[in-house]
Amino acid sequence: MSVVPSGDVINLQLGWPSPRLFAGSSLLQGATEVLTSEAQTAKALIYGPHIGHTPLRESIAQWLSKIYNVTTSKDRICITNGASANLSNILQKFTDPIYTRKIFMVEPTYFLACPIFEDNGFRGKLEGVPESAEGIDIEFLRNTLRMAEAAAMAEQNKSPKLKSGKSYVKVYKYVIYVVPTFANPSGKTMDLESRKKLVGLAREFDALVVSDDVGSSSSGGAPSHLTSTFVDKMLRNHHLQAHIERVLIPVYRKRYHALMRCMMEVLLPLGVVIESNAPTGVAGGFFTYIRLPEDLPAAKIVATIAWRKKHLRVAFGHMFTVSGDPGSLIRGEQAQGFTKCLRLCWAWHEEAEIKAGVLRLADVISETRDMSRRGLGFEDYMTIGIR
Ligand SMILES: Cc1ncc(COP(=O)(O)O)c(C=O)c1O
Repeated sequence: MSVVPSGDVINLQLGWPSPRLFAGSSLLQGATEVLTSEAQTAKALIYGPHIGHTPLRESIAQWLSKIYNVTTSKDRICITNGASANLSNILQKFTDPIYTRKIFMVEPTYFLACPIFEDNGFRGKLEGVPESAEGIDIEFLRNTLRMAEAAAMAEQNKSPKLKSGKSYVKVYKYVIYVVPTFANPSGKTMDLESRKKLVGLAREFDALVVSDDVGSSSSGGAPSHLTSTFVDKMLRNHHLQAHIERVLIPVYRKRYHALMRCMMEVLLPLGVVIESNAPTGVAGGFFTYIRLPEDLPAAKIVATIAWRKKHLRVAFGHMFTVSGDPGSLIRGEQAQGFTKCLRLCWAWHEEAEIKAGVLRLADVISETRDMSRRGLGFEDYMTIGIR
């Protein structure tokens, strides 16, 4: 029996951290430290440098050097207002909507990146590249790049049209957008060999690789100049690091294992396969991706049934096609394609709710299978959310 009343919504779609885990009190402490000093307040409330608050860049560089066991300096760090906004910044400075021929996105893709590319003038130029077991299908990418380059030469597309002059130090012919570590949605991590090949290919074809590596750093709640000064204090007094180590990691570890254990107990026996390729015991990001059994309809239908009948929200494969690329949908809908998959998040809910959500999903799978066996159609369950 589930501890969550059956009428309550369980949302395994939402990729958000749960508010009870926020480091509110240490943020307050950081803010107090800044705002009770006249000199520091003056620096915090005035315009900051374009590249971000220098002390925060230094403290982040120190923190990352320690975590990754490397030596890095503030010169490689800039403070932005989030991964999404920064993607837009990158496109504004390093691409030209005419000269830049294509934007490649690993599919299934982080769907909210598509409108950012489109808003920057790339509608119709997005193209999916299948994810492979190692992270990205390099040969597919190479062939598509070759074709795109031949087309650009035929069109005499040889120099930037809109972005030229000294404000634009480098404009790329292509962008390759990847989430290489604990990808959203698939949870996969690209292996070292593929990363090297990807960089080699990017150099060969003058492509900018945008690595949206939120799974191994952080996103959301991004700092303005004022909040940068608070976050810097949190890093310097080690409250943020302690919060991550003592609160976030243990809680997320438990939630992740609760999800995995429950899936193994009730979903795998129904024929579900876990797609994420992380070595056993290593987890990150917020999501796992699961493949539904062959005899079930597309994941978007299963997700609609889950929502309508069980008040359970899950993200489904069709959401992760690359917008404007008909090939992406075709590949997604092929046998073994990614539209047969669901994405589940373990970050938002408590363990009991996660387990209750998985039990609901198991019921949905059994009931859908039963409907299918009885020859009932799914016409009433075709539309939900986007795509
Ligand atoms: C791959 C990826 N990129 C970007 C974001 C959003 O980042 P931000 O909130 O910093 O804009 C997310 C959030 O889930 C994400 O998964």
